[in-house]
Amino acid sequence: MSDNQIIMGIETSCDETAVSIVQNGREILSNVVASQIESHKRFGGVVPEIASRHHVEAITLVIEEALKQADKSFEDIDGIAVTEGPGLVGALLIGVNAAKAVAFAHDIPLLGVHHIAGHIYANQLVEELEFPLLALVVSGGHTELVYMEEHASFKVIGETRDDAAGEAYDKVARTLNLPYPGGPHIDRLAHEGTATIDLPRAWLEEDSYDFSFSGLKSAVINTLHNAEQRGETIDPKNLAASFQESVIDVLVTKTVKAAKEYKVEQVLLAGGVAANKGLRAALEHAFSDMPEVKLIIPPLSLCTDNAAMIAAVGSVLYEKGKRSSYALNANPGLDIER
Ligand code: KG4
Ligand code: ZN
Repeated sequence: MSDNQIIMGIETSCDETAVSIVQNGREILSNVVASQIESHKRFGGVVPEIASRHHVEAITLVIEEALKQADKSFEDIDGIAVTEGPGLVGALLIGVNAAKAVAFAHDIPLLGVHHIAGHIYANQLVEELEFPLLALVVSGGHTELVYMEEHASFKVIGETRDDAAGEAYDKVARTLNLPYPGGPHIDRLAHEGTATIDLPRAWLEEDSYDFSFSGLKSAVINTLHNAEQRGETIDPKNLAASFQESVIDVLVTKTVKAAKEYKVEQVLLAGGVAANKGLRAALEHAFSDMPEVKLIIPPLSLCTDNAAMIAAVGSVLYEKGKRSSYALNANPGLDIER
């Protein structure tokens, strides 16, 4: 690592305008997040056009604030890391263009970053990564098991075939008339209830690390509707607890199995759903009798979208000599294995 390397991270892939300054890949000097959740709440989800508009309004202010809080100026920045994808194209474009403008104006290297790589590298801000490792990525748009042999090398060994875990949480929450984003509400309810309702678990083929949550989501919705038709009521707490138990059971079982098969040093939890208390506790319990594997779980502030995680990836790319050209573009379907 070069002496005192300073990277600015920019993240605008969804509904947070975020800029962070990270020193030597691990030390957060500032981490500013302007959330738009309040604007999207009344629509029950993120409205892409509104997201883009908010990013345009916020991005320069958030960049200035991140520099101010870190007590740095553009002259101190060694690299500008920005999320190039996946995400909402209009939202991504704001961050990518801001990053290109700053990089060009101040002659700073530009570093395009994959959003999910960012979620994984949130763990690097907690603990030095040791390889090989396995990351369980659970977010609003992704559910993946990612194997890493070394820095910036990603192999997806399993992924969802339909809904992402966070998406299933949000849809179930919507059925229960809970506000967006629903994940934290289901999590809270689940802790107040008991898993009394029998819901399916999609294990898929025996050797598969893939996931599927749409059947579970439909089962929850059907359970509610059937009860309604019979004039019965179902305790939302117990339904939330049953749903959460089913999701966690599959996530944890597959993660433990993969960790053993791939003989990894570390298991990392990543993505917005990593904030789930039930999932965190279940993973801690599962790995408590596997001392050969170190489990890392980031603090809540680094689980949801932020730019420190993007800067952490940028730091590794910078050290590897990787640079993006000014032709860098938003890429909503960006592949992490590329
Ligand atoms: O990683 P993220 O910010 O978005 C993507 O990059 O896709 O994750 C957002 C997702 C939402 O679906 C939200 O409901 C979920 O994370 N989430 C949770 C919890 N906190 C956030 N899901 C379950 N339990 C939580 N405590
Ligand atoms: Zn995310």
